[in-house]
Amino acid sequence: MHFQWYPGHMTKAKRMMQENIKLIDLVIELVDARIPVSSRNPEIDELGKNKARLILLNKSDLAGDKWNDAWAEYFKEKGYSVLKVNSKKGGGIKSIQGVIQEACKEKIERDRKRGILNRPVRAMVVGIPNVGKSTFINALAGKACTKTGNKPGVTKGKQWIRLNKNVELLDTPGILWPKFEDQTVGLRLAFIGSIKDEILNTEELAMELIRFLKEFYPGTLKEKYQIEEAEDDFSCLQEVAESRHCLVKGSELDTEKAARLLLDDFRNGRLGKITLEFPNDYE
Ligand code: G4P
Repeated sequence: MHFQWYPGHMTKAKRMMQENIKLIDLVIELVDARIPVSSRNPEIDELGKNKARLILLNKSDLAGDKWNDAWAEYFKEKGYSVLKVNSKKGGGIKSIQGVIQEACKEKIERDRKRGILNRPVRAMVVGIPNVGKSTFINALAGKACTKTGNKPGVTKGKQWIRLNKNVELLDTPGILWPKFEDQTVGLRLAFIGSIKDEILNTEELAMELIRFLKEFYPGTLKEKYQIEEAEDDFSCLQEVAESRHCLVKGSELDTEKAARLLLDDFRNGRLGKITLEFPNDYE
């Protein structure tokens, strides 16, 4: 599931995107609702200029409801169409057809003026690895519809999934690389598990998360692990280890194990709905 990015990958991904983007009217960009800005690559704005744009706040089930709404407003104000979705459970998927028509209304109007009627909107899904592109395409199109094009012997053409008479979707999503050179962005991507944990060691990463939670979601750790939320982050991690009986050699606290447990609980939503970045930081 984890991706390591090398310049070669990035160049190839970008070239594919540039080719495919010529074929479409609408860019459906998935972002992670917990980190809507850090899970984007700003280059998409250049690549997708002159296209209709739709941003999906995916994994909205894992992010705070109030912040999902605030982020939706934030992107709407910047001129994007926006929808909150949970691709895993199908939440929000029913609204998508309407939102696509709305996002493409200028194009549809242009076509109509030129006498072109009923030409379907062509769309492409893009986003960073692990943001939920395949899950979303499956939720939208149904598993049977998602064909794979490049098996040996199968013609290597573009595959379009016909969603209905109005919309066709390119079956291969465009992969954007995250901008993890920025330290804060890298940290947030590591929190959600979308880049390798090794940018920081697991304990350091967990302590960063502890620091964030104590500041922005006080009481969360206390409630989940029945701990005192010690002021010192390492002590707090030790409290988690103690509470969850993470021990080495039967007696010493295994803070490495506690760190993995904590990160895992966070990533799977077991600490509750937690948004990691907020629109007011980006105004
Ligand atoms: P990608 O194509 O963009 O690389 O992402 P992919 O669809 O493979 O999804 C990555 C992971 O994110 C998957 O979990 C998927 O189930 C999960 N996911 C996608 N959309 C949502 C969502 O809206 N909410 C939640 N909570 N999770 C979502 P996984 O751990 O790889 O597999 P599994 O645990 O689902 O088996």
